[in-house]
Amino acid sequence: MDIAIIGSGYVGLVAAAAFAEIGHNVICVDNDVTKVDALNRGETLIHERFLPELLARHRGDRLRFTSCVDDAVRSSSVIFIAVGTPSAESGDADLSLVENVACSIAQTINSHKIIVEKSTVPVCTSQWIRRVMLQNGAPREMFDVVCNPEFLREGTAVTDFLYPHRIVIGADCASAAETLRKVYTPLLDGSYAKLTKAIPQPDNAVVPTRLIVTSAESAEVIKHASNAFLAMKISFINAVANVCEAVGADVEEVCKGMGSDARIGSEFLKPGIGYGGSCFPKDLTAFRSVSYDSGYDFRLLDEVCRINEEQRFRFLRKVRQALWNLKGKRLAVLGLAYKGGTDDIRESPAIAMVKLLLKEKCEIVAYDPAATERAKEIFRDGEVQFSHDLYDTATDADALLILTDWEEFAGMDLTRLGKAMKNQIVIDGRNLYRPETMIESGFTYYSIGRRERVPRKVVRRLNTAA
Ligand code: UDX
Repeated sequence: MDIAIIGSGYVGLVAAAAFAEIGHNVICVDNDVTKVDALNRGETLIHERFLPELLARHRGDRLRFTSCVDDAVRSSSVIFIAVGTPSAESGDADLSLVENVACSIAQTINSHKIIVEKSTVPVCTSQWIRRVMLQNGAPREMFDVVCNPEFLREGTAVTDFLYPHRIVIGADCASAAETLRKVYTPLLDGSYAKLTKAIPQPDNAVVPTRLIVTSAESAEVIKHASNAFLAMKISFINAVANVCEAVGADVEEVCKGMGSDARIGSEFLKPGIGYGGSCFPKDLTAFRSVSYDSGYDFRLLDEVCRINEEQRFRFLRKVRQALWNLKGKRLAVLGLAYKGGTDDIRESPAIAMVKLLLKEKCEIVAYDPAATERAKEIFRDGEVQFSHDLYDTATDADALLILTDWEEFAGMDLTRLGKAMKNQIVIDGRNLYRPETMIESGFTYYSIGRRERVPRKVVRRLNTAA
């Protein structure tokens, strides 16, 4: 099929590469000419596993990049809108980019098109797209609007796309739903997974994928409600972690106990300094706002956000508990990305933590395997020292803070780390270590939802000093 993807951000670029991978002719549009030039030159632009391979396989063949929306619209029958939907000041999603795209399609339409909302949008957006198309002169019989939300996680977006747990198609017209089903056939019948050149399946892949066909409104709600629910699960376990700290329980044991109930499940039950990223915070606010505007005051969502914000301040208290005065203390910060496996720092709790620590006048040396360049853009020159090596970061540090769950941070050489640091103190905002491992290696260890652990020899030294 001939497919156009409008918007080449995380979602658009991954979708474009993956649609080419399952056999379609794809033209991917971005109005940023420098971005299009870079993509045409062979750059990947984002840190995403398997994306470079897919772009190299299909660029210039089944996958083309352009800055001209009109060309893309004319040469395709299915058009995916994957432009940004940032939060407006009111908390509503700002849909002006979606509206602009709908206008452009209406003005160029030359044959029947299926317009697919891929960006996360509030309920009723498909109706608005339809209305804008008509207002801009597109004949009613020339197009259908479908909602096909994505559930891609950054870092695993390519495999999430090629091996999704479900594909949701929200359409008010059976023929449009059928066309979309055809677009995804290689995933729905399992034929893609059988190809020798297929990107390898992740462990938890469900092949073939389940198809769920709904009304457009239901599909729109599925997307927002799914993200809100996942964010709620994270805030819930973070709140439980706080109770665990208060009563001397171990949240990791609690997670194991809770997560093994199939009705609860163990995923998204990892306590930490909170969720971030370009989706959860924005989608939660938008869902809250949409619910309110439609007459339902969804206050549970406020509480989810509040708990998330509070986690940072609780973590700051832990740093104080470990070091007393913070002014002038040298802190080694591991992680700037909002989660491991990505260079994305949007709404990153790690960045928020660094900002709080800078306010306390700490000296920050930070290391992130992928997000350093992006982080450099948001701090003033010299405000934060950036390091390119984990162990250099720790040199002479008063404490080491783990803020992002990168795999590299979970497998540190603890002897080498201990030797580099001034004080062997680790404050782990992602619970990457077992407390026993840390105290055996001589570290005083603070984590989330578990009590502080101090090695025996440190306790003896402190007692002798007292
Ligand atoms: C999320 C959704 O998972 C995806 O379906 C949707 O399409 C986009 O938003 P993403 O933002 O890439 O994807 O990241 P995700 O892996 O879901 O993590 C979001 C945040 O929650 C991260 O900051 C992560 O560190 C945090 N998190 C996640 C936790 O704190 N605990 C958990 O148990 C899981």
